[in-house]
Amino acid sequence: MTKMQRLRTVMPRTRTGRAIAGLIIGAIVVAASALAYELFGGIALAVAIGAIGALLVIVAARVEVQARRVLAKQDVQTLKQLRRIQQDGQAVQHELGRLRATLVESELAVLEAQAGVSEMRGTVATKADLQFHYAQVQAAINLFGQFEVGASVPQMRGWAASPDVLLRLVDLVRARQPRLILECGSGVSTFWLAMAARKYSPGSKVIALESSEKYALRTEALIEAHGLGAFAEVRRAPLEEWDGVGTWYSRDALRGVSDIDLLFVDGPPESTGPLARRPAMRVLHDLLSSDAVIIMDDMKRPDEQATVASWQREFGPLIESEFDVEKGASLLTRASEG
Ligand SMILES: C[S@@+](CC[C@H](N)C(=O)[O-])C[C@H]1O[C@@H](n2cnc3c(N)ncnc32)[C@H](O)[C@@H]1O
Repeated sequence: MTKMQRLRTVMPRTRTGRAIAGLIIGAIVVAASALAYELFGGIALAVAIGAIGALLVIVAARVEVQARRVLAKQDVQTLKQLRRIQQDGQAVQHELGRLRATLVESELAVLEAQAGVSEMRGTVATKADLQFHYAQVQAAINLFGQFEVGASVPQMRGWAASPDVLLRLVDLVRARQPRLILECGSGVSTFWLAMAARKYSPGSKVIALESSEKYALRTEALIEAHGLGAFAEVRRAPLEEWDGVGTWYSRDALRGVSDIDLLFVDGPPESTGPLARRPAMRVLHDLLSSDAVIIMDDMKRPDEQATVASWQREFGPLIESEFDVEKGASLLTRASEG
């Protein structure tokens, strides 16, 4: 507590209070003079005591006036400071409001920009997209570059196998010269396998199982258009129930099939049911040649991953190499084959 604050606590606050305090002190001084006169009998002493008392009252009054001035000055300063703090507070609040408005505006701008970017993402190809598509274009160039293609070829990708996996199949035919190639699901892949057989392995033959009459006719027309009848056969293979195996291509379609050297699993379509391709190994396992290779397409899909895992459990160990291709693919061989 400062001296001034202490003074404030003892000093009477009102004018009347101060008058009463003066009167009390005056009375005490007069009483003290009278007492001195009574006790010591000297008028001079009584006057002296009265004078000292009066002096004390005057000094106290002066001190009080002085203190009041100082306090008044301090009050004015405190008031000014308070007003300044209030003004500063108002300024800070104003600034905060302005910043909040700016922040909201910025957030809106960011949201708009994000919406713009995601809209653009759907229409503008990124560098990764371009590289990805370029890989398919290059694979297609590699395919067309290897053969004399005299008639048009249906589009690859989408429902059909992609150029990158088709190129791998052609490479396998050239490297391994399989006698019998069995394909589950016909289409443009039947065409490229037959082209590879004709050029690199004239003793090879492709049998393509096709569950849909519409697509069987299309593939047959394609094979015919390119004069590949000696290398590929499309077999009508409607889906049917196999006891303890599931739904798969008809038994009839497998007549005369044995010693499959290369099996390309690209059907039945996933729309026909869950794990639609799993029966392939259960049905064909005993029809594979000892050094057969199996290529499972669409390995980026959970169903195909689960199918290969189930084959590993039932028929494994199978050596699995992953092809880094658009839809993912796995090449499987028996462990002894390496
Ligand atoms: C994945 S596709 C097989 C594609 C074939 N291996 C190829 O590369 O062209 C599997 C089956 O889907 C059916 N399919 C083919 N193209 C289709 C299309 N555009 N729409 C619906 N089903 C189709 C056919 O029955 C085909 O056997």
